[in-house]
Amino acid sequence: MKVLLLGARGQLGSAISRIAPTAWGLTAADRTVADLASPGQVADLIVRTRPAVVINAAAWTNVDGAESSEALATRINGEAVAEAAQACGRVGGRLVQLSTDYVFDGSGDRPWTEESEPAPLNAYGRSKVVGERACLTTGHAMIVRTSWLHGGSGRHFVRSILGAAAEHDTLRVVSDQIGAPTEARWLAATIVDLADRLARGGVVPSIVHAVPSGHASWHEVACHALRTASALGARLRCTADAITPVPSADYPLKAMRPMNSRLDGRRLDALVASARPSWTVGVDATVRALVRGGA
Ligand SMILES: NC(=O)c1ccc[n+]([C@@H]2O[C@H](COP(=O)([O-])OP(=O)(O)OC[C@H]3O[C@@H](n4cnc5c(N)ncnc54)[C@H](OP(=O)(O)O)[C@@H]3O)[C@@H](O)[C@H]2O)c1
Repeated sequence: MKVLLLGARGQLGSAISRIAPTAWGLTAADRTVADLASPGQVADLIVRTRPAVVINAAAWTNVDGAESSEALATRINGEAVAEAAQACGRVGGRLVQLSTDYVFDGSGDRPWTEESEPAPLNAYGRSKVVGERACLTTGHAMIVRTSWLHGGSGRHFVRSILGAAAEHDTLRVVSDQIGAPTEARWLAATIVDLADRLARGGVVPSIVHAVPSGHASWHEVACHALRTASALGARLRCTADAITPVPSADYPLKAMRPMNSRLDGRRLDALVASARPSWTVGVDATVRALVRGGA
């Protein structure tokens, strides 16, 4: 079975590349061979390589930057996704499209289900909704929504907080945004499983939320990460007790973020055999890799 991975050098893409089954005959494409900003380029690659499954882990992910570059973000996260989904249809392939908690407006305190209506607060979220709608229209795609990715070699919250704690005696971290930090390695394994089902012609839903169990604020995630790092012997100037919880209003950014980013993962529970791990398991793994210099 042929699988084409787009965004192979990103946080999630590189995690998928590392664990892709050899039977997949994976083509791992990065921006140099599949530039989503360039109309037609990704569709041409799909038609040329005729994969059974395309996994699109490529995206414009600069949330604040999207506020001033919405057209380009929409080109990459929306129009290119539509072209990829249509091209998959032409070659009898299926598309696994990554999406985000940022498609929701963050109201209320209940987890968003796959049926919840998107109502993004920012340009990045709007651009991802354009991609989602294109996938739903073509019917050849499965949308996998996730949240708060961490792990691997790129920039992510757990790395940033450990770095900041090594340099400062005190920190201030937002405590009114609630979600589930998702380890890239776990998400990659989940996507491999889902992509296999798709390729085998299994019945899969058009949208699945892939997040670990439980939820926390950024402040709680930061405290947990520092406690784990300290227990592993990391030299930190700031301990968990010295992190002050602050409201989002004290930390203004260009793009508004949803307060309630909780994604309901029960549909995934019904699909896969293994239980979803707690978010703490993934954060512990990422902290371990960072403290031991493995990431
Ligand atoms: N990060 C999160 O917290 C988070 C949360 C929810 C959902 N998601 C979604 O999960 C998916 C993976 O995110 P991630 O964190 O792995 O992102 P990432 O680390 O920023 O990786 C994105 C990849 O997309 C590539 N890319 C950007 N513009 C491109 C273009 N014009 N053509 C081709 N490739 C392009 C980047 O290439 P370069 O390396 O060349 O820049 C990068 O390799 C995305 O769909 C994202 O929206 C992420």
